[in-house]
Amino acid sequence: MSARILTKRELIPGMTSQMVLHAPHIAHKARPGNFIILRVHAQGERIPLTIADADPASGTITIVFLVVGKTTARLNLLHEGDVIPDVCGPLGKPTHIERKGDVVCVGGGTGVAAMFHIAKGHYLAGNRVTAVIGARTKALLLFHAELSRFCAEVSVATNDGSMGVKGLVTDALAERLSRGPEVAEVVAVGPVPMMQAVAEVTRPLGIKTTVSLNTIMVDGIGMCGACRCTVDGEMRFACVDGPEFDAHKVDFAELRNRLEQFHGQERAELERFKKQFEVAGG
Ligand SMILES: Cc1cc2nc3c(=O)[nH]c(=O)nc-3n(C[C@H](O)[C@H](O)[C@H](O)COP(=O)(O)OP(=O)(O)OC[C@H]3O[C@@H](n4cnc5c(N)ncnc54)[C@H](O)[C@@H]3O)c2cc1C
Ligand code: FES
Repeated sequence: MSARILTKRELIPGMTSQMVLHAPHIAHKARPGNFIILRVHAQGERIPLTIADADPASGTITIVFLVVGKTTARLNLLHEGDVIPDVCGPLGKPTHIERKGDVVCVGGGTGVAAMFHIAKGHYLAGNRVTAVIGARTKALLLFHAELSRFCAEVSVATNDGSMGVKGLVTDALAERLSRGPEVAEVVAVGPVPMMQAVAEVTRPLGIKTTVSLNTIMVDGIGMCGACRCTVDGEMRFACVDGPEFDAHKVDFAELRNRLEQFHGQERAELERFKKQFEVAGG
């Protein structure tokens, strides 16, 4: 189905944008952890994006995306009022949310926005939520104010020390865990190396840890095999069995290899797109 862009906000100009889409059929069913697959034009590639928030009353969903390649660059050229011709969802298994006490939600880069819906879901279920968020520098930090509205605590880490702890999100996470109280679950969304590092912080402490795997996806319905990953020694499809899995059982080395497989092709496509755009006078 198509979806109209109601609002577009460049959170980090030229790099990260937030769009609110009118998609009532998705907004009514969307749960934290779900994602959509969209196409920017009829022949375009299908890309997965997390539903960062959903409002059934207004029939809207929010997406936040980092401009990394051809399709996200094309998406970022659209304006308020434009229509995205193909938006499919909600897809994936929703986050398992129940009342369990203290939950720490870790987000890195654009993953902070993807983590927002999950953190909000845990808060609405009655959990005490701590957000641990990180970015290279303060100007690149997303959703600090939004998370502060319902999180008991928002811990920040920046690589350059311009805000919060100087270092990585795992440094802020370790600091939070060392202070207690006991944490029932850690949830992490962000780049694969970050999620892997979070798993290694919580493993020796025996804290249940969930990660949302951003594998390559094509159909999003378990038919193409593009999103396969190994969890607990078994092949799983991130689109239908996930995207969330037990962080301590994910084969991260394999996941990193698979993500790197298409780098050459992706770079060539982006260069071709940039040239076309220049020729068209964009
Ligand atoms: C379930 C799921 C949810 C996602 N949610 C979001 C989201 O909310 N916001 C967001 O910005 N991105 C999200 N992603 C990643 C997003 O799908 C990719 O950034 C997008 O497909 C890139 O398309 P492209 O054509 O612009 O770039 P491409 O040309 O396909 O790729 C350019 C570069 O982007 C990186 N990349 C490509 N695909 C992925 C991927 N799946 N994960 C991580 N890096 C990738 C690689 O480094 C690659 O070299 C999600 C991925 C999955 C699987
Ligand atoms: S995206 Fe095709 S099987 Fe998961």
